[in-house]
Amino acid sequence: MKTTIIGGGGRVGSCAAFALQCGGVVSEIQLLDANQDMAEGEALDLVHGSAFSSDQLIYAGDYDRAADSDIFVITAGLRRKPDESRLDLINRNVSLFNQILDSIISAGFKNDAIVFVVSNPVDILTHIATQRLGLPWRQVIGLGTQLDTSRFSSFIAEELRLAPTQVRALILGEHGDSMVPIWSSATVNGLPIEGLPECTPAFQTKVFDRTRGSGAEVIKKKGGAGWAVGITIRDTINAIALDQKRLQPVSSLQQETYGIRDICLSVPTRIGRTGVIDQVEIKLWPKEQLGLQNSACTLQNTLKQVGV
Ligand code: LAC
Repeated sequence: MKTTIIGGGGRVGSCAAFALQCGGVVSEIQLLDANQDMAEGEALDLVHGSAFSSDQLIYAGDYDRAADSDIFVITAGLRRKPDESRLDLINRNVSLFNQILDSIISAGFKNDAIVFVVSNPVDILTHIATQRLGLPWRQVIGLGTQLDTSRFSSFIAEELRLAPTQVRALILGEHGDSMVPIWSSATVNGLPIEGLPECTPAFQTKVFDRTRGSGAEVIKKKGGAGWAVGITIRDTINAIALDQKRLQPVSSLQQETYGIRDICLSVPTRIGRTGVIDQVEIKLWPKEQLGLQNSACTLQNTLKQVGV
């Protein structure tokens, strides 16, 4: 499976490449970046470890060499300048993203390629990619609330001293302030977390607030997310590469799930080699469902503001 990471010289792209190298599932990892030296440097550093990790082809390439990719992962993005509004950043990122899409379109891509959007605002950019590439909507996936879901589950485990991989707790909706904690899904080894005496309303508020603020917390401390986002990218790429048909909280164009349509956000989504197999409407608590509808409205408003 040939995977091209656009933005592969940046923090998120290179962490994703490292996670894919450690995972050893995809056969080819191509790094593209506006900063060619960084793409080459990261590829070189990864190649140095090949003999002790996986048998993969890893290199810095270009759009022409990317045309036969099975998966395009787009991680390239801009950071907020001091005093810049969120919307200004969105508009700058939308125009950079459109240039990337133009480059993919002019170099060409396979009919069955999957485009996996990680750059922010991820739900908006996933929507734009779905509209512009002319691929079936099922082949355009955004990372959505995968990272938030991992943070949420990891924090619950840390706070309650549980094994992190035994904790499952979803975040759905927007990858942004209106994200929705799905406490009805929170389990440890299959048992409801809500059954634990420590899982009080105050605990729930604390863990969710920390999850929602995690992007900002990590920006403040180290400049931006890297390792965890890399791991969650790998999880989705493995589901595609291995045709796992796993349910993941990723973003895609909604087709009436929970009554939501014409907007990209995260709902439980079955992922396999062909991309989105289906968006699954599992019964949620009424307040969770309302939260999803609120996320959809928030994203519709943002879409209008960016003039898409
Ligand atoms: C975050 C970015 C990657 O949440 O969206 O840290």
